Order: sequence, then structure tokens, then C-alpha cells
Amino acid sequence: MKVSGFSKHFLIWAKIIYHILGNYKTKTLCKLGYFKTTTGSTHSRFSSVSDSLKYINQVFQDYLSFAELSVKDIKGKRILELGPGDNFGVALKFLIAGANKVTCLDKFYSDRDELQQYQIYKAIRDELSQEEKRSFDSIIKLNNHTREFEFIGNKFEYLYGKGIEQAIEIFLPASFDMIISRAVLEHIPNLDATFNTMDKLLRPGGYMIHNIDLRDHGIFTSVGLHPLTFLAIPEKIWKLMTEHSGKPNRMRLDYYKHKMEELNYNYRIKIILSSTLPMIENIKPKLQPEFKKMLSEDLLPETIFLIAQKSRNNPSADE
Ligand SMILES: C[S@@+](CC[C@H](N)C(=O)[O-])C[C@H]1O[C@@H](n2cnc3c(N)ncnc32)[C@H](O)[C@@H]1O
Repeated sequence: MKVSGFSKHFLIWAKIIYHILGNYKTKTLCKLGYFKTTTGSTHSRFSSVSDSLKYINQVFQDYLSFAELSVKDIKGKRILELGPGDNFGVALKFLIAGANKVTCLDKFYSDRDELQQYQIYKAIRDELSQEEKRSFDSIIKLNNHTREFEFIGNKFEYLYGKGIEQAIEIFLPASFDMIISRAVLEHIPNLDATFNTMDKLLRPGGYMIHNIDLRDHGIFTSVGLHPLTFLAIPEKIWKLMTEHSGKPNRMRLDYYKHKMEELNYNYRIKIILSSTLPMIENIKPKLQPEFKKMLSEDLLPETIFLIAQKSRNNPSADE
């Protein structure tokens, strides 16, 4: 869709006002203790159980393949999954593969369809071997008459209402061997606090594996504007639009590189999706100064995988 100059300004301001109001609404609701959102309702948007299964299997496989881990590496591990959204299929896959415990932590409670959730868990079970089914049944109980389910035992834990930035209030330092997330870090406004917390929660030698979506999440692209329009909005306005509502924080590739170096992690970043140089050059003069001065190459990535290992002999100060 081609947008003319006047309509472009109108659309940008309409979107800014809409998101400022949305941000204020979420802030107020969270203050009142109401954490339900649709941000993480990924499966509610899928049209079939097989789409959900495909997504869960893909997310699990991506963690293993991008981090070059095998199922053997998961055995006995304590895993923290950030922002699972409306389904715990990925956590189940880790547990069935032999993880000792998976804790899912979400700032919000993603709205979900309980019957659909039952159908997804049943479909996951149907794909398993007899031995895996026994493991599944020790974690989640499916009632095929009422079509309800219940997580049982202590291998799986779900907490919501607090973000990862505040997680040191919940868990002891070095509680986890792995911290994983998909499409979550870009939603967190204070990434410095987030990385410092994750660093404390990881044991020496532990891994972080994060899939990070650096795009505008439809804020301006949904009305046909350039994919980097969101980097042309002044920081003060962007904060008003996004700080409490889990909208993208605009951190770019260079931030993740510097953070990993600062924390002295052994890391690599894989670029999964990338835009093109002409596309970047086209909008670069209009970007905010902090983005304009970046190398165009650092503005190219749209989706990345960060795989980082905490040093074995450099535990964080609080341990
Ligand atoms: C786009 S959804 C991704 C959901 C799921 N990982 C998936 O792949 O479908 C982003 C998730 O991050 C969660 N989230 C946002 N801010 C968070 C924070 N500060 N700490 C933990 N989770 C957060 C949201 O509630 C939501 O569940």
C-alpha cells in the first residue's frame, strides 16, 4: 500500500495517540492487579490444533538447533522460560526431553481458550512414545471426559504478574541452568535490569537462549508505513506509547552485543530475518539521532537468536 505525505502524518499521529491511550490503560489495569492481555495469545490466533503443534515443535527445535544443543544437554536442567504466553507446550517438550524442572514466568496473563488448550495438550500427548506418555502423565493430567487438564507434581511451575526484571524477588541467585524466551525480550522496557537479573539467576556456565523480534510489531507497518517508521519517533513519545504495555523497546543488535560483552558472556548472535540495505538507506535520514548514527548493517536484522553462556569461573557478585 502506497501512502501519501499527508495521510502518512495523519496515520503516524493517529497510531501514536492510540498507543499512548493503550499504554495508560495497561498501566492502570496492572496497578489494579489485572494482568490479562492478548499479547501472548499466540495459539488463540491459530486456526487449527495442527498449527499449534507445528509452532510448539518448531520453537523447541529452534532452541536446540540454534544453540547447538542435543536432548542429552537438557537432561536434569532447571529451565526458566520467559513469557510463554497462552500455552506451555514448549515447557512440556523440555520436561519430556528430561529437564528437571521448567518454570514459566510471565508479566501478563495471556487470555486463552481452555478447550483449545486441552486439545493442544492432547495432540502433544498423541505424538509421544509410550515412555514419553508416562512422563507427560506425571506432569499434566488430561480428563478426556470433561476435556479439562491440570498440571500436577512439581516439575512444572507457572507464575505471572511479575516481569523478569523483578524476578530476583522470587528466585534465589543461580537457580537456573538455562533461561529461554521467544519473542519476549523486545517487549521489556528495562533490558538492563532484565539482563542483570538473568545474570544473577543463571548458574556459572549456564545458557541464555533468546529469540528476539526487532520489528515494529505492526504498530506502523499494519497501516502500510515503512518498517523502520518506529525508529523515527522521539524516545519520550515512544516511552509514553509503550512503557507499560509490552510494546517493542526498539533495542537494536548493537545493544545485545554490548550487553553480552559487558557481562563477559561467551555469545553468538544469529540473524534469522533481515531487511535490505536500500530499504534502510531510504529512511535513515528521518530516524532519531541514536538510530541515525548506527551502522546500517546494525539496523538490518529483523529477527535474531542470542545464544550466550555465562562464564564458569566468573559468578555474578551476589552468589
Ligand atoms: C509475543 S508474546 C510471545 C509468547 C510466546 N513466547 C510465543 O512464542 O508465542 C510475548 C510474551 O512476553 C510476555 N512478557 C512481556 N513483558 C514481560 C516481562 N517483563 N517479563 C516476562 N514476560 C513478559 C507477554 O506477556 C507475552 O506472553
